[in-house]
Amino acid sequence: MSHHPSLAPAFTPDPHSYARPAEVSVHHLDLDLIVDFSSSTLAGTATWQLTHHAPAAELVLDTRGLAIDAVLLGGPDGTPTTYEFGPDDTVLGQPLHIVLSPDAAAVTIRYRTAPGAAALQWLPPAQTAGRQQPFLFTQSQAILARTWLPCQDSPGVRFTYEARVQVPAHLLPLMSAENPQERTPDGSYTFRMSQPIPAYLMALAVGDLEFRPLSARTGVYAEPATLPQAAEEFADLEDMVTAAEDLYGPYRWERYDLLVLPPSFPFGGMENPRLTFVTPTILAGDRSLTSLVAHELAHSWSGNLVTNATWNDFWLNEGFTVYFERRIMEKLYGRPYADMLQVLGHTALLHTVEELGPTSPDTHLHLNLAGRDPDEGLNEIAYEKGDYLLLTLEHLVGRPALDTFIKDYFARHSFRSMDTLSFVEYLRQELLAKHPGLEEHLQLAAWINGPGIPAVAPPVVAARFQAVEAALAQWQAGTPAANLTTTGWTSHEWVHFLHGLPPGLTAARLTELDEAFAFTHSGNAEILAAWFPLTIAAGYAPAEEPLREFLTWVGRRKFLVPLYRALLATPSGADRARAIYAAARGNYHAVATSTFDALLGNPTE
Ligand code: BES
Ligand code: ZN
Repeated sequence: MSHHPSLAPAFTPDPHSYARPAEVSVHHLDLDLIVDFSSSTLAGTATWQLTHHAPAAELVLDTRGLAIDAVLLGGPDGTPTTYEFGPDDTVLGQPLHIVLSPDAAAVTIRYRTAPGAAALQWLPPAQTAGRQQPFLFTQSQAILARTWLPCQDSPGVRFTYEARVQVPAHLLPLMSAENPQERTPDGSYTFRMSQPIPAYLMALAVGDLEFRPLSARTGVYAEPATLPQAAEEFADLEDMVTAAEDLYGPYRWERYDLLVLPPSFPFGGMENPRLTFVTPTILAGDRSLTSLVAHELAHSWSGNLVTNATWNDFWLNEGFTVYFERRIMEKLYGRPYADMLQVLGHTALLHTVEELGPTSPDTHLHLNLAGRDPDEGLNEIAYEKGDYLLLTLEHLVGRPALDTFIKDYFARHSFRSMDTLSFVEYLRQELLAKHPGLEEHLQLAAWINGPGIPAVAPPVVAARFQAVEAALAQWQAGTPAANLTTTGWTSHEWVHFLHGLPPGLTAARLTELDEAFAFTHSGNAEILAAWFPLTIAAGYAPAEEPLREFLTWVGRRKFLVPLYRALLATPSGADRARAIYAAARGNYHAVATSTFDALLGNPTE
């Protein structure tokens, strides 16, 4: 038995996990998975290697909807032991209590997932680009790993893993691990992740996938129909990784590959280690939406190396990542470009603060999500207020000092978790103490435990948006849309233009804009997502069918929530929203339908 009291990591209590890692924690997983598309289930055998920190009679794992066939002490040939489920919670699932012997070094669980497991989306061929083969992908963040793997599902617990995965012979499986680049004849694959990761970074995708290298250590996986476009869109990937390393230290995960998912993927991107998952809606054809890739890449440091200890500390993942993302974009495309991203983010922050209200505790950086589904409690604040705190620090101490601080922070806490209190302590020690009066000036407490945006935050401006604002003013003063100067605009200028239009535009005014700029038929999802709310409010008929198609085909929650809301806010839109949702719901991931069911009602009930 291994007792390591002196090495015991300090586990911050996690309100979203039943596990008790301070007693016994897991440090390695051996996983056998059989992927069965006919029953939409995984059959698994999970062997967990244990570290004992304190005498414990049982190991508690998180599960949700798993059927357990056997629990053994030791490996797959071990001896059966007693186990029992605790009470079921709709969000947290059920604790699995496993009786341990004092010398148990490992436990093995044989289990099956439920066909409706929330982390898993099983797509029929019709929902893929090729329309011939089915597709499966997982989304484990925040607390959904437990729906496909019995685990200590807390971001403060890390483990290495090896997996053997069996899939139908013509499909390729990929994981957040060392990945195959070619198919095997028998559909049997092995994976290894040698760096310890938390359960929310466990990932699996299975489909008709092919690989294309982009550099010696980067590449992209996609369905054959999408691969050429993806390789074109992500051509700058190696430059991004190099830029990130120049900023904040070596990339610690060896390869960095992208996987382009089918459009029902509920997020823009997910930072699964070694293999970022991305939505196909960033394949705009002009590389205009690749800041999302910079974002997921940045998580290879903020999030995957230094990990939020609980979901209350989510801003430590996302705020640092947004700041880092924009620094990468600045290195590649210059300050004026990155400034546009900063202003768009700032606009989103102001909207979120307004929506949540000026005194809402959900606008604090340090959250209190106990008793709530983290998936519903996490919002733009962690991203943009978190970024804004770092931007304010940059403004106050200068870039060189902040960059040294951040680089050291990543280096010194690599492969560990961080909670907000420990971060504040570290910040004081390493940065604030060197600048007398800085903590007060920064209003640190107001950022962390106060609502809204502290007054010390510097203004954010983008020179390239001046032309946009000038065009907006001219159009409102009577210049025809077709006569506005918009040459060289990227999608960011266009999105800023659309956000800057006055409310209540009539269908006739939208017709004029659409004739000049063809928004309704834009191939850029960000432009569509900014345009459709205007068309919904105005009852602009030419956009109705394109909107229905967008809502049916795309499953990205960030786009769909505002569009369904805009529909609900108009008299005729509510019925339309429900009709579209009833038809589209089957195409969405569980992470999205739980949000939309709350908004629109569950059409299947
Ligand atoms: N890690 C997040 C996605 C996430 C957060 C999934 C919380 C589940 C729970 C990812 O890095 C992310 O932030 N994605 C954004 C894109 C980004 C450019 C802001 C998204 O999907 O919109
Ligand atoms: Zn993120």
